[in-house]
Amino acid sequence: MDMYEKVIELARRRGFIWPAFELYGGSAGFYDYGPLGAPLKRGIEDLWRGFFVIREGFCEIECPTIGVEEIFKASGHLSGFSDPLTECQECREIYRADHLIKHIVEVPDALANEEIYRVIKENDVFCPECGGDLSEIYEFNLMFRTSIGPGGKQPGYLRPETAQGMFVNFQRLLRHYRDRLPFGAVQIGKSYRNEISPRQGVIRLREFTQAEAEIFINPADKSHPRFGEVADLVLTLYSQEAQERGEAEEMTVSEAVAKGIIAHEILGYYVARTYQFLLEAGLSEDKLRFRQHKADEMAHYAADCWDAEALLDRFGWIEIVGVADRTNYDLRSHMAQSQANLTVYLPLDLPRREERLVVRPDMKRLGPLFRKGAKAVADALSALPMEELKRDPIVVVVDGERVEVDPDLVAFEMEEVEVRGEEVVPHVIEPSFGIDRILYSVLEHSYREEEVEGETRAVLALKNRVVPIQVAVLPLMDRDELSGPAEEIARELRALDLRVEYDSSGSIGRRYRRNDEVGTPYSITIDYETLEEGTVTIRDRDSMAQIRVARSEIAEKIPALLRGERGFSEAGTPLGG
Ligand code: ATP
Ligand code: GLY
Repeated sequence: MDMYEKVIELARRRGFIWPAFELYGGSAGFYDYGPLGAPLKRGIEDLWRGFFVIREGFCEIECPTIGVEEIFKASGHLSGFSDPLTECQECREIYRADHLIKHIVEVPDALANEEIYRVIKENDVFCPECGGDLSEIYEFNLMFRTSIGPGGKQPGYLRPETAQGMFVNFQRLLRHYRDRLPFGAVQIGKSYRNEISPRQGVIRLREFTQAEAEIFINPADKSHPRFGEVADLVLTLYSQEAQERGEAEEMTVSEAVAKGIIAHEILGYYVARTYQFLLEAGLSEDKLRFRQHKADEMAHYAADCWDAEALLDRFGWIEIVGVADRTNYDLRSHMAQSQANLTVYLPLDLPRREERLVVRPDMKRLGPLFRKGAKAVADALSALPMEELKRDPIVVVVDGERVEVDPDLVAFEMEEVEVRGEEVVPHVIEPSFGIDRILYSVLEHSYREEEVEGETRAVLALKNRVVPIQVAVLPLMDRDELSGPAEEIARELRALDLRVEYDSSGSIGRRYRRNDEVGTPYSITIDYETLEEGTVTIRDRDSMAQIRVARSEIAEKIPALLRGERGFSEAGTPLGG
């Protein structure tokens, strides 16, 4: 069994991850999180909230997972979000063409379709199933399409990323932040991609959870006031140049930014925060690196992008997070698509005088035409950029309504004006996390086996912050005089909002092993000394050491141990020498 098989077998058996719809034969790319998987996932999401909402002072929003067509026209997903496919000419099996040449080309996503086909032909790549010839490459859009309402006339799409929710709410978010940059908004929620061949468990799903932050910044200022907090952090960076050499390098964040390897401080800051978050979630430091996208691999919107990659036993280096500078691509596209003004007015430090072409809406003629709305139309005209004013008719949006204005109703004049500020389309920095891939990586990186008294002990050394069961309560034997006090302890700990497992079946050794393999950090055993002396034992998952603690101190000591405020051996009297 390789590590993947071991972890997935454990995950299925103990209720972390189950293939969905198994009752009906299952469907590739869909998984359920079971009784232990769901709280583990929630724990990772809450840790993420701590990092990217609370500590950053950002807000969290929640938008529909179905979007209207205009969103995805603007975002580019309708025209550009596709994968290259090839079909076996014999058995008709369909494959992602770039995946078939991964062992030949290091970054196949960077190749054009013709190039992928050439690599396939030149390297004698055939159908992995039957050895048949493969067809030329064609594109397949990964968005799930549906229709909104009866009649099927209005197309809708299941969102392929959560990010667009933040872009289409930009105006409201800006108001929420009192019209100032920078600000950030996040979403944690489901995204959908009709992946071609999802054969890698929760690594490639058709429905998955993303946690994404969109941070709107002034394009003229890509410094970060808190950069100093992360500047000295050493990261393993696999930059574009390092990829040419084939070797990642260790470097501080400040050095990477100073040398221009990471484009600017804000990107460096979020790469560093990503690293800190992933370590706290439970990834191994030595199986984590940041890989820069190659110029031709970059998404259609990105100026610089770094993927956090986890090293997995079966799959090699896998992207789990992308941190991208999306520039103003999305806001510009949504401005063009919606005609709405998605700019921010940024005051200048020093006002300057400028010769300007000024718009003079003809109020005498606008008044009778638009009545009460005339002032709003005139203001909207005055705010339009010159290229929009050259159109015939000129189009403005007033209170969400599209209004057409005859160019004759607008005059232009040169005037010296005092410029106190500028309308700017913000740039966006986006850390985008795949929660399912992180969860699987956490499981794999936390899993270990060791020999104990001639037996193999499997341990999930999960971090206390994300662990699904925080404490197990185990009566030494399933007898009333022990189970009564044990149940009372379990109730007391649950009242403290702790996730408690009460387990009274099987030998105590087996119960310890059962808890070790799902990562329970502490087990409390209630025995006859509890009745006689008023003490219990607490066992530590990682060291298997035990301490004896007064029954009355459990409610204080277990939370303190879980928060890491106490060392285990100082928390009670050590047992067994
Ligand atoms: P890949 O190249 O592996 O398909 P991607 O480059 O398309 O990934 P992004 O579009 O950058 O991924 O998505 C952001 C994050 O969402 C990824 O880092 C990943 O963790 C997660 N993600 C993307 N697609 C999937 C999927 N099909 N299943 C699970 N997680 C996914
Ligand atoms: N929002 C980045 C992505 O999902 O592609």
